[in-house]
Amino acid sequence: MRIILTGCDGQVGKFLSKKLNNMADILALSRHDLDITNELMVHKIVEDFKPDFIINAAAYTAVDNAESEQEKAYEINRDGPLYLAKAAQDINATLIHISTDYVFAGDKDGVYSESDATSPQSVYGASKLAGEQAIIDHCEKYIILRTAWVFGETGHNFVKTMLRLAGDRDKLNIVDDQFGGPTYAGDIADAIILIVKKINHNDVVNWGVFHFSGQPYVSWFEFAKSIFEQAELQNYRQHIELSPITTAQFPTPAKRPANSKLECSKIKQEFCISPSHWQSAIRNLIGYI
Ligand SMILES: NC(=O)c1ccc[n+]([C@@H]2O[C@H](COP(=O)([O-])OP(=O)(O)OC[C@H]3O[C@@H](n4cnc5c(N)ncnc54)[C@H](OP(=O)(O)O)[C@@H]3O)[C@@H](O)[C@H]2O)c1
Repeated sequence: MRIILTGCDGQVGKFLSKKLNNMADILALSRHDLDITNELMVHKIVEDFKPDFIINAAAYTAVDNAESEQEKAYEINRDGPLYLAKAAQDINATLIHISTDYVFAGDKDGVYSESDATSPQSVYGASKLAGEQAIIDHCEKYIILRTAWVFGETGHNFVKTMLRLAGDRDKLNIVDDQFGGPTYAGDIADAIILIVKKINHNDVVNWGVFHFSGQPYVSWFEFAKSIFEQAELQNYRQHIELSPITTAQFPTPAKRPANSKLECSKIKQEFCISPSHWQSAIRNLIGYI
């Protein structure tokens, strides 16, 4: 099995790169190796390597900056996936792409399923949705995996930010009216690998969009509380005082969905993949940050 992985230095990309190494002939490419907005290079590399799978872990993920860098966000999150989709289609490869909970408005009363209407509230969300559509329009064999609130040992994420801020503060105010499923980057990589294995062994697959996130669903405040409870248990730091605040009290350039809980039963049915448990990931990774 031959696999091209893009964005191999990102949070999810790093795990994929490591885990896929043992099971496939893998060409792991960082932004430096392949800029996915360069259509000619995308086609050349795909045609030369002739992969069975292309896994796109590359993205523009700076949600707030995207509001002022709209063109760049669309180039990376819409045009990049478009070029990968066309290249995959040309050689009949499967494209696996990661997308986001931020494609939803966040005003639903309940969890979001794959068939729910999208209505992104930010440039980032809109650019990711445009990337999904480009893939759907140009490639027959594709899996779009929407995930949420990604964290891990590397890169920029909420867990690392909390632990860093706690280093020099005794009190923190955290938003308590946005809800979602924190998802460990290593668990996303595992889910993608299971999908690759299933497709590789069995050609009959229902291509499409799938949701995968961590559970239980929490607010950012509840998530922070769990992170610090674990940090205290592991003597990583002393007690810190957390206060819940509203989104209105913490304005950001990009609007975030109040509810981005992803319903994950479709991926269970199709690929036997269950939602991951972010609490055990937090327990394991605190010592490594
Ligand atoms: N982070 C989250 O909370 C979150 C939530 C939901 C969904 N997602 C989705 O999950 C996926 C993985 O996210 P992540 O957190 O692993 O992202 P990440 O850590 O920001 O990694 C993205 C990678 O893409 C690379 N990249 C940027 N522009 C590129 C280009 N033009 N060509 C090639 N590579 C490029 C980046 O390289 P540089 O660092 O050199 O720019 C970086 O290594 C993304 O599709 C994201 O939209 C993320």
